Amino acid sequence: MSVIFSLEAEPSLSRETLLHWLREKDPSALETLWRHADETRKAHVGDEVHLRGLLEISNHCVRSCGYCGIAAYREGLTRYRMTAEEIRDGARLAAEVGCGTVVMQSGEDYGLTREFVAEAVRFVKGDVGLAVTLSLGERPEGDLEAWREAGADRYLLRFETSDAELYERIHPSLPGRHSDRFAQLRQLRRLGYEAGSGVMVGIPGQSLESLAEDLLAFCELDLDMIGIGPYIADPATPLGKSLASLGEEQAPASEELVLKMVALARLVRPDANLPATTALATMDRAQGRELGLTRGANILMPNLTPAKYRRLYAIYPDKAGADQGPTQTVEGIKAKILALGRTVGHGPGGRASTRS
Ligand code: 5AD
Repeated sequence: MSVIFSLEAEPSLSRETLLHWLREKDPSALETLWRHADETRKAHVGDEVHLRGLLEISNHCVRSCGYCGIAAYREGLTRYRMTAEEIRDGARLAAEVGCGTVVMQSGEDYGLTREFVAEAVRFVKGDVGLAVTLSLGERPEGDLEAWREAGADRYLLRFETSDAELYERIHPSLPGRHSDRFAQLRQLRRLGYEAGSGVMVGIPGQSLESLAEDLLAFCELDLDMIGIGPYIADPATPLGKSLASLGEEQAPASEELVLKMVALARLVRPDANLPATTALATMDRAQGRELGLTRGANILMPNLTPAKYRRLYAIYPDKAGADQGPTQTVEGIKAKILALGRTVGHGPGGRASTRS
């Protein structure tokens, strides 16, 4: 390996080095990347794997993203919104099974009003005593401010791809409201949230070059959390039917490329919290989570959504864990963590608490 591509030689990885690794095919060279990512994870965030209990609180959505199975145009999908009571039960369950954080995620649903969400945040944070992460789409600043005041700690908003043209194609703006997730992420930081983002890997029309740009954007945004998963084609969506490809330069939606992105994300943002995502577990049910955890990731997000809603939060087909009860899910996940010689994290597990 020439010295310019060595991982040790550079304090921050250049575009050229990132691209080199994204193109690397030699398994023995890749072993170096995996090892380095795992060592960096251990040195910066340790062996604890924090559990974030995921509640998918609504599958209503005003957006028409070309890749997403709960987009507004999906007719025939039964829509649901969890009640305040169901959210409270979910939060108590999260505490019981050992999660330090509740993640409330939904489509961009204005039926989830500012006050309804604020109340749920106050309950989870104040009454149950868990950290709160929100992932509710591109909401107006007033909402984000109110939820922060109510006690929300973190916000997740994936920018999906840093290729502006591709992004606009797969994620159309709402009329009169240009979608700029980079601006939104900066706004979240200004409001005092820990900010999380991430990308899908293998979107039709996505190049390896643009994945290298995504990694640079993780640095530039100084992200606290980074979620990376494969793009999973859903035949019920326009993009899922598309055969668009860039040929040689097309980023494949392969497990290996997702793992390279996770490993490189760890190297460029050593102290960030990185989940082994459900999409990765969906692609490789046997060992997706383990591979994520040993190649840079330090977070798992067990799905605690009530059974009757799980199947309906169908952002992509055959989501892993859709058929399991919460206790079974969490016990399975804890067993995996221990089998890797890691420990189950205690406390909120925010980026701040892992900073030296
Ligand atoms: N394949 C993979 N990930 C998807 N998401 C949405 N649709 C898909 C899909 N078809 C991801 C997006 C979104 C997150 C909540 O789920 O990255 O931000």
